[in-house]
Amino acid sequence: MEKFVIRGGSELHGEIEISGAKNAAVAILPATILAKDIFTIENVPDIKDINSMLQILEEMGAAVRYLDRSTIQIDTRNIFSQTVPYELTKNLRASYYLLGALLGMYNHARVAMPGGCNFGGVRPIDLHLKGFASLGAVISTDGGIVEAKASKLLGGSIYFDKVSVGATINVLLAAVKARGITIIENAAREPHIVDLANFLNLMGANIKGAGTDVIKVEGVSELHGCDYSIIPDQIEAGTYMVAAAATGGDVVIKNIIPKHLEPITVKLRECGATVEEFDDSVRVFSHGRLQGCNIKTKPHPGFPTDMQPQFTALLALCEGMSIVTDSVWDNRFRYVDQLTRMGAQIQIEGKAAIVQGVASLKGAPVKADDLRAGAAMIIAGLCAKGVTEIEDIVHIDRGYEDVVKKLTAVGADIARVDFPENMNIRTKRA
Ligand code: EPZ
Repeated sequence: MEKFVIRGGSELHGEIEISGAKNAAVAILPATILAKDIFTIENVPDIKDINSMLQILEEMGAAVRYLDRSTIQIDTRNIFSQTVPYELTKNLRASYYLLGALLGMYNHARVAMPGGCNFGGVRPIDLHLKGFASLGAVISTDGGIVEAKASKLLGGSIYFDKVSVGATINVLLAAVKARGITIIENAAREPHIVDLANFLNLMGANIKGAGTDVIKVEGVSELHGCDYSIIPDQIEAGTYMVAAAATGGDVVIKNIIPKHLEPITVKLRECGATVEEFDDSVRVFSHGRLQGCNIKTKPHPGFPTDMQPQFTALLALCEGMSIVTDSVWDNRFRYVDQLTRMGAQIQIEGKAAIVQGVASLKGAPVKADDLRAGAAMIIAGLCAKGVTEIEDIVHIDRGYEDVVKKLTAVGADIARVDFPENMNIRTKRA
């Protein structure tokens, strides 16, 4: 079993290059199904979730070729299947985007309900399905498989009563080739929605308003291949910003879009860290103990829920009391048990965590309950006294490219260690 072993206490100094955005890539790759053509996509992160998505596309008949580590060519001309079985979807939450893409292209999709990050609660897709129904699709669910079909998709008006990234993306995928005009109201505004819309427009779609809460899609009959570069990962960047501030370090985070990081920048400054913004990088540094602050997660442009666990790890060490409220997910505090094992003083009350800052954390064996929970454990481990061992790092590998290599390069003492059954420890650095 692989674990991360961290010896805490090193300040991070240097530069970290950010990879392409996971949550944009997991939408853009299935979008290639919407044309029978060849695509070249740059800045594709080399992470487990993307490898899972590429494997699914290959099983469906796409040909995938790596031009270099982060550039792929996808040829979708020979896609033959509109069915995606559970064997393929079980490790990837975003496999539900195949529903929208297949429905949009073939008027028919059969996709097994996905696995992936589950924060301990239910992750419904009712809004996705309502959106498909508004375009004229008939939906049925049986044995964990969702089937959506239509004789012809027709543009429709959709109002989401809750802001949903996944439902907005799925309806966009289904609507780009539907006949007529689709209006999505109360749409999500995340950078990855805009990135997907830019990609689809380059394929020949006619989407206006992405990045606002009203998106208008005028259906087109044909789409074609294109060359595209995925935006940098907002959450990977935010995670390293928080790690730099939490360790009292000084790190330049490169290949980013500073505007996407504003909610994180604002909160780091409120805690007393310095954040300097440049065209495509930010420098984060801090000295001495930081101050606690209150955080409330909201859909973009609010503070991202996907930064909530990492920021809570920082707040666990800040002076004073902080209140962290997650208004996006009902159940995203499972990881707090792990932080308290390291000496953090945090209590959960409903949708909020009350964090009473402590002067130091102590290394302990902990686990990564999910992707961002794992990132929080890394930050806590980097700051803690002694050794932290993180189990279940498969979750972290789903979303962070080269995390050991990137952190080691800025002075962290972190290693991926294979603990085989016979307990002979084999260390793999970077
Ligand atoms: C996306 O998940 C991200 N995943 C998540 O990131 C992120 O936490 C989330 O958006 C919120 O920003 C991907 O992009 C692949 P939602 P998604 O639909 O689309 C409720 C990470 O760490 N809801 O915006 O599944 C839902 O329960 C991952 O990278 C419904 O009620 O999230 C939640 O409370 C984890 N019905 C809220 O909406 C629905 O049909 C927002 O969920 C859909 C959602």
